[in-house]
Amino acid sequence: MTLAEEFATLTGPLIAHGFVHAEAPDMRLLLHARGLADWDGFAASWNDLGVDTYMADGGRYRRRRYAAFSAGGDGIRRKAHQPHYQSRDYNLLNGGIARWFEPITPSIGAHPALLAILAASQGIFTACTPADARPRNWHVEVHQFRIEARSGQPGQPTPEGLHRDGVDWVLVMLVRRQNVTSGETSIHDLQRRHLGSFTLAEPLESALVDDDRVYHGVTPVTPIDASQPAYRDVLVATFRRE
Ligand SMILES: [Fe+2]
Repeated sequence: MTLAEEFATLTGPLIAHGFVHAEAPDMRLLLHARGLADWDGFAASWNDLGVDTYMADGGRYRRRRYAAFSAGGDGIRRKAHQPHYQSRDYNLLNGGIARWFEPITPSIGAHPALLAILAASQGIFTACTPADARPRNWHVEVHQFRIEARSGQPGQPTPEGLHRDGVDWVLVMLVRRQNVTSGETSIHDLQRRHLGSFTLAEPLESALVDDDRVYHGVTPVTPIDASQPAYRDVLVATFRRE
């Protein structure tokens, strides 16, 4: 398949259904064309995230780092560190306050893997946006997440349940699954009818969603071997019109 055909395998279903489950080989091809390198070094940075202390359920099972970018005709540019804000319309559990998270480190913020992921996402999401609605620049928020699971304490990737992020487009990319089971992604329409489910299993495997049209949620993860560390690492990038 050519790169254009590969691209169309993602944009076609995303436009038709409001979401697409992208297999790892498809993502790898698109990212290599945009300079993907040192994936292992990029993935290892998930070992150095801060605990999310804003969890309204009292949970301490989520680690994260965060950064904001602009993506447009002038390329991808990191913005000054800023709080992450979701209204309570979109996040009843943790929304309604400005949450300050540890910044993504400078080296990861400029990493060729991250820049390739953002460039590919920008291309896909722009292609799926009607020409008259395309912004000059997208406001992009990037989150590194680690959800930890312990015996008797499942880790909740989406403690708010089925939700929308309050943006235009969302990429959820699996970075690593270590000793965890479950963690199934499900997609529902605005009437909350089930549209599809899949489990992100391989590094680079992704869900791309039209946040205006569908809800998404992920079931809790539990350890396979309770005596060993168990976690699910993902990268989330949201795009909205600036
Ligand atoms: Fe989300």
